[in-house]
Amino acid sequence: MAAPPPPAFDRARCAERLRREIALLSAPPYTADSDAVTRYAFTEPYWRTIDHVRGCLEEIGFEAWLDPVGNLIARNCAPGVRAVGLGSHCDSVRGGGRYDGILGVLTAIEVAREARAAGLDLPLQIVSWVEEEASGFGQMLLGSRIAAGEIDEAALRRDIRAIDDGRPFWEHAQQAGLTVEHVAHTAEVLNGMASWIELHIEQGRVLEDAGDELGIVTDVAGYVHADLWFTGQADHAGATPMDLRRDALVAAALTIAELERLARQAGSDAVGTVGELAVAPGVINAVPGEIRASLDVRATRSEAIDAILDGVRGVAERVGIEREINVRYQERQRLAPVALDGAVCAALERGAARAGARWRRMISGAAHDTMCIARSVPSAMVFIPCVGGISHSAAEDASPTDAALGVNVILAAVLDLTERTTGGGR
Ligand code: HGY
Ligand code: MN
Ligand code: MN
Repeated sequence: MAAPPPPAFDRARCAERLRREIALLSAPPYTADSDAVTRYAFTEPYWRTIDHVRGCLEEIGFEAWLDPVGNLIARNCAPGVRAVGLGSHCDSVRGGGRYDGILGVLTAIEVAREARAAGLDLPLQIVSWVEEEASGFGQMLLGSRIAAGEIDEAALRRDIRAIDDGRPFWEHAQQAGLTVEHVAHTAEVLNGMASWIELHIEQGRVLEDAGDELGIVTDVAGYVHADLWFTGQADHAGATPMDLRRDALVAAALTIAELERLARQAGSDAVGTVGELAVAPGVINAVPGEIRASLDVRATRSEAIDAILDGVRGVAERVGIEREINVRYQERQRLAPVALDGAVCAALERGAARAGARWRRMISGAAHDTMCIARSVPSAMVFIPCVGGISHSAAEDASPTDAALGVNVILAAVLDLTERTTGGGR
């Protein structure tokens, strides 16, 4: 049964609204920095942004609330109705860009606004997932992983702690007035959705290099986040001869160079990154005694991820033995690669064709909350290009006009999906 044609769509008007909202939310008080976007879980800029988004949703007839861990959920339909889910995340990396995450929430609001303006009765559930970026508590996709049942209460009470003050997530949630003791109820957000679509900037250059306007994501690479500790001996940089040193940073540097070689060797979509490096004592005239290096290893095949990790750990152990450095490895989290839903992708492809968009199927190297939702809800993603593929940087840039095209395509897909699941939507 053919889906009804999407309503007339004023792309320029939608793009202008998105441009204004991005400009507003890219400046204080919605970010802690003014030359980049720094907005992470449970900080003042984060709550101001959540309040702003909540106000926009309530203005267009949604009921909005925070779940027990701080996921913002909004619905325009009665409890029990399985809606089409839309959204992304409002938090950013520290020193991040203006579009990552927030654009997916703003475009979800635009889809709802356009549907309402066209008099369409489309049951929607819009979600902004908490702590997608690991910039508050060091744990990526935290809100969606909790909803998906991947994190237990003990971890929230004890292990997952704020980077800034070391206090447990549980305490911060209580201090924010959340009913975190009801954390088991977070799973309900998934029951409320018949399908899920997230719009996001690509954060790579595939679309820009190809001159395409949209990507329809079929698979998301899996990842492992972990830490390697190297413990040698802090020593005087002037008085300690080279052959008497147990320099932890040299051991780490040899291991990091090997990570790069292993990632290159593991195949074109495999990547390995050390983004965090803590050095103690960390002064110019002391031999480093203690190093913590973070590991971010990703690929679309789990065996490639494991090959890289096994290789890196083997090198660290060997260098440790040679140089009398103690090495410890601890995994933070692991998410397997995820294949997204063919039917939802097909609805998006029909929408893109109808809109006359230049689009392509593609995979995502970046992680997204959609990975956690897709385990129980048919899900897909829409990418728009970002300039030079740059992201997680103040230089991140994208086009509100491309985002407005994404709104148009998602609206058509929501109509299509709603028609197929309920026969309604008019
Ligand atoms: O790092 C990621 O893949 C995502 O941007 N949090
Ligand atoms: Mn990100
Ligand atoms: Mn993101």
